[in-house]
Amino acid sequence: MYTFDIAQGTKADLYRDLIAAVDAITSGEPDAVANMANVAALIWEHVPGLNWSGFYRMVDSELVLGPFQGKAACIRIAIGKGVCGAAAATLETQRIEDVHAFPGHIACDAASQSELVVPILHHGKLLAVLDLDSPHLARFDAEDQAGMEAICALIAPRITP
Ligand code: SME
Repeated sequence: MYTFDIAQGTKADLYRDLIAAVDAITSGEPDAVANMANVAALIWEHVPGLNWSGFYRMVDSELVLGPFQGKAACIRIAIGKGVCGAAAATLETQRIEDVHAFPGHIACDAASQSELVVPILHHGKLLAVLDLDSPHLARFDAEDQAGMEAICALIAPRITP
């Protein structure tokens, strides 16, 4: 097991340390599944207020469940469906304060109230999305979005199939 010293003070401290940990654990490792699994676990361990942390991968023309932490989840999501499918269709981060107000939200876990989904692109091609769920309304702010987008930019070349 790996242990990282990750500050829990400000979000700036948290994301500085989390990005460094993600870089350290994925650096030099070419296996996409191993890297996604460790990133999902690092986020789950160190980011408070989550009930799901993980990846959906682009496989052929749909999103398919990848490494994650949390309850067992829906396996396949069509592009354009739900929050994950919206991120895949628009190639833009979806930061949803209240998932119940999002048309077509897919409720894998009834506890989820807010969600952040970041598309992960490499050389312009969508590889996967990072999906974070929270049981709290409006759990994710612009700082969380920027931190998770930085993590996704960092790992994109390390999760290629
Ligand atoms: N809520 C997501 C589905 C995936 S689960 O949250 C793990 C969505 O609407 O796309």
